[in-house]
Amino acid sequence: MRLAKYLAQSGVASRRHAEDLIRAGQVTVNGTVVTEVVTLVDPKTDSIKVGNRRLYAEPLFYVLLNKPAGYISTAHDPQGRPTVIELTADLPVRLHPVGRLDFDTEGLLLLTNDGEFTNLVTHPRYQIDKKYLVKVKGYVTDEEAAHLQQGVEVEDGMTAPAIIKLRNRNQMFTEMEITIHEGRKRQVKRMCAAVGHPVVNLTRTGLGFLELGPLKTGEYRLLSSDEVEGIKMAAWG
Ligand code: URA
Repeated sequence: MRLAKYLAQSGVASRRHAEDLIRAGQVTVNGTVVTEVVTLVDPKTDSIKVGNRRLYAEPLFYVLLNKPAGYISTAHDPQGRPTVIELTADLPVRLHPVGRLDFDTEGLLLLTNDGEFTNLVTHPRYQIDKKYLVKVKGYVTDEEAAHLQQGVEVEDGMTAPAIIKLRNRNQMFTEMEITIHEGRKRQVKRMCAAVGHPVVNLTRTGLGFLELGPLKTGEYRLLSSDEVEGIKMAAWG
């Protein structure tokens, strides 16, 4: 819809005054000053501000989902596979995932309709810890664990130091907890493969101070406003 109309609908000003505000350079869309009154915006996805005040077209939801394996973390899948969005379809707004978990990865995934929150949490500049419980093939030696901890070479360069806690190991499998703050594509799987131990099972159990807790697979809960603020603070570091 047209920006001026949206401002008027949000109760910021009359339609006429809204146009004046736009021309005066008081309005930003996704951080860029917009002076063209006929600019089109999508209030569901664009961040629109008058001065420092952000306008919200709809109430903001922040959801912590226990993602099951076999769901894709995008809003649409060209191959028609189930998406995580379907698991929150009972909420009155359309959410998007905050970052991604692989199709076969389970565990803690945030979803929201707040694009600014998503940018903050997923931007590589911000370093929120992500904790995973991982089961890999074979016996991970102390040396291999130390190697993972220091950083390993993967095709897009060395990984940053990680925290590794070995949980169970035998000749067939090793279970360990890996905490990383980078968020490269398939990072944990590539790190483990780099030391010769392909991942069998991967579950994200923590994001910053948030824990998966007792949520069953496929279930979600809403974050409290303290949790939302806490995550923003963690992102700012
Ligand atoms: N690392 C991976 O390899 N996959 C995920 O889904 C998340 C982290």
